[in-house]
Amino acid sequence: MNGIKLIATGSALPERVVTNADMAKIVDTNDEWIVSRTGISSRRHCSGDECHTSLCLAAARQALERSGIRPEQIGVCLVATLSQDFLTPATACVLQMELGLPEDTVCFDLNAACSGFVYGLHTAECLLAAAPRKYGLVIGCEVLSRLTDFTDRSTCVLFGDGAGAAVVEWNEAYPSLHGVLGCRGNREALLVPGVNTKDHSYIHMDGQTVFRFAVEALPRCAKEVAGKAGISLDQVDRFVFHQANQRIIDFAVKKLKVDPAKCTGNISRTGNTSAASVPILLDELVSSGALTSGQKALCVGFGGGLTWAGGLLELA
Ligand code: COA
Repeated sequence: MNGIKLIATGSALPERVVTNADMAKIVDTNDEWIVSRTGISSRRHCSGDECHTSLCLAAARQALERSGIRPEQIGVCLVATLSQDFLTPATACVLQMELGLPEDTVCFDLNAACSGFVYGLHTAECLLAAAPRKYGLVIGCEVLSRLTDFTDRSTCVLFGDGAGAAVVEWNEAYPSLHGVLGCRGNREALLVPGVNTKDHSYIHMDGQTVFRFAVEALPRCAKEVAGKAGISLDQVDRFVFHQANQRIIDFAVKKLKVDPAKCTGNISRTGNTSAASVPILLDELVSSGALTSGQKALCVGFGGGLTWAGGLLELA
């Protein structure tokens, strides 16, 4: 067996807090509707000079500093995102330059929407096995406020901006993530048009279809990861589920019959930050001491694509 362990985390959230009361000034909505349907009370939006690159850099620098790993020890740098500042250069290439990573570091962005960070962990595990240096930097970052249609009340209340970063180490003695990744291609359920379409790049979503997909995919993926790792769900110390909607998480917790205290999240303060949500939550858990050395976090992302990805990540 060989795999990665989590060495350190970092995160960065924009300064500007946008409350449900703020959203009610923009669209016909109210705090009661948003909280009861989603669990979201506020989210962060970039303002001023804040942008995707600055969030990524802040999260990555914090994770590196806490890890004690020097930039020249990094072999792989991946950024999971669908809202990067540039189509090229990839955000990971900008990080290579700004952080001073060696030129032979494998650097690229990957888009698996809300599953992106866990796709990134699995990809890093595979790439690091063959890389000359065994430390990887995996980041999830989104600035979804730039892709939000602020006239559509059914989507604009859901999304937020932020970044989370993880420094991981590959070792042939470490257990695998036991990654479970998948895709059920669907263009209608969740769509953000790209540069070659006539439509402006706003998030379009069929909320109910995505909801039905999520409540099926999340518990299935969590069970498959535990099955692959050969452990029971009771042996998991923490569940780090993508923070899309509190009702989706509550449903999964019930279905999996796991301790809700191991599934606490942050959606009320962050909204849905897509690829950034799992690493931001991971960082909160590590920083607060809720996830400690030797403990295992079962991470699951799910969303646009439609995609899902799960893995068991141990804190070194
Ligand atoms: N404030 C007030 N009313 C709203 C509203 C808002 N922000 N957004 C929608 N509504 C209204 C609708 O217009 C509709 O009104 P109508 O009955 O008069 O037509 C009513 O609320 C119900 O709409 P519906 O879309 O059926 O609500 P819902 O219970 O499905 O909740 C979501 C909508 C988006 C919260 C829910 O579908 C969801 O969470 N889906 C998953 C989304 C997700 O997690 N996506 C990311 C996955 S990674």
